[in-house]
Amino acid sequence: MIKRKSKREIELMHEAGKLLAGVHKELRSFIKPGVTTMEIEKFVERYLEMHGAKGEQKGYQGYEFTTCASVNDEICHGFPRDEKLNNGDIVTIDMVVNLNGALADSAWTHPVGEISEEAEKLLEVTKTSLYKAIEQAKPGNRIGDIGHAIQSYAEGEGYSVVRDFTGHGIGETIHEDPYIPHFGAAGKGARLKEGMVVTIEPMINIGTYANKMDDNNWTARTLDGSLSAQFEHTIAITKEGALILTEQEE
Ligand code: MF3
Ligand code: CO
Repeated sequence: MIKRKSKREIELMHEAGKLLAGVHKELRSFIKPGVTTMEIEKFVERYLEMHGAKGEQKGYQGYEFTTCASVNDEICHGFPRDEKLNNGDIVTIDMVVNLNGALADSAWTHPVGEISEEAEKLLEVTKTSLYKAIEQAKPGNRIGDIGHAIQSYAEGEGYSVVRDFTGHGIGETIHEDPYIPHFGAAGKGARLKEGMVVTIEPMINIGTYANKMDDNNWTARTLDGSLSAQFEHTIAITKEGALILTEQEE
C-alpha cells in the first residue's frame, strides 16, 4: 500500500532532510586520505546528536551502524571500519536521519583526495542520472519513467545499473511501498501521485551490474571488482514536480 503524506508531514521530513544534507556538506571536507570510515561514523553520530536528531539505520533489521560506508567496489551497506581511506578511493556514505520522528534518506559518493579521471566520470554520470530521474518524478508519470531515465542515460555512457537494490517509499519506517527500480521501461508501472515521498538512489558500476554478497550478509560488492558509485535523494512528489528534501546547498 502506498501512503501519501500531508503537507505538514512533508515539511517535517524536509527538516530532517536539510539536516542530513548538512552532514554530507560537512563530510566533503572531513573525508580525506588517512581518515577511517569508523571516524566518519563517529563524526556523523556526534553531528546528529548535537542537532537533536538520531540515525535511523542503527538497529534497523539488525544493522549495527548509523552510516553505511561503501568503498570502491562496494556497492552498498559497507560497514564502517578502522582501515584508513587512501588517496584515490571513492566512498559512499549512506544514512537515514530521524528528526522528531520524521525520516530522510540520502547517500553520497565522496572522493578521497585526488581521484582518477575514470572515477571522476563515474561520479559525474551517477549524480547526473539521479537528477535526470528526479525530473521524471512528477504527478502523472509512472515509476518506470524514473528507472528508464537512469538506465538509458547510464548505459548510454557505457556503465551498468545495479538491479538488486532499489529506491523506496519512506515514512514511518525506512522502507515502504512503492519500490523504485533504477532500470525499466518508460510509461510502465504505478502512477506517481502528489504526496508520495520516495527515494531515488541509483548505484552505477563501471563493469557488470552483477554483485556478490560479503560473508557479513550485508555488504554487496561488484562481481568483477569494478568501481561503484551512488547518489540518493529523498523527494516529495508535489503538483509542481519533485521537491528534493535532502538537497545540499552549494
Ligand atoms: N539508507 C539505506 C537505503 O537507502 C538503508 C540501508 S538499510 C540499513 O535504503 F539497514 F542500513 F539501514
Ligand atoms: Co534509501
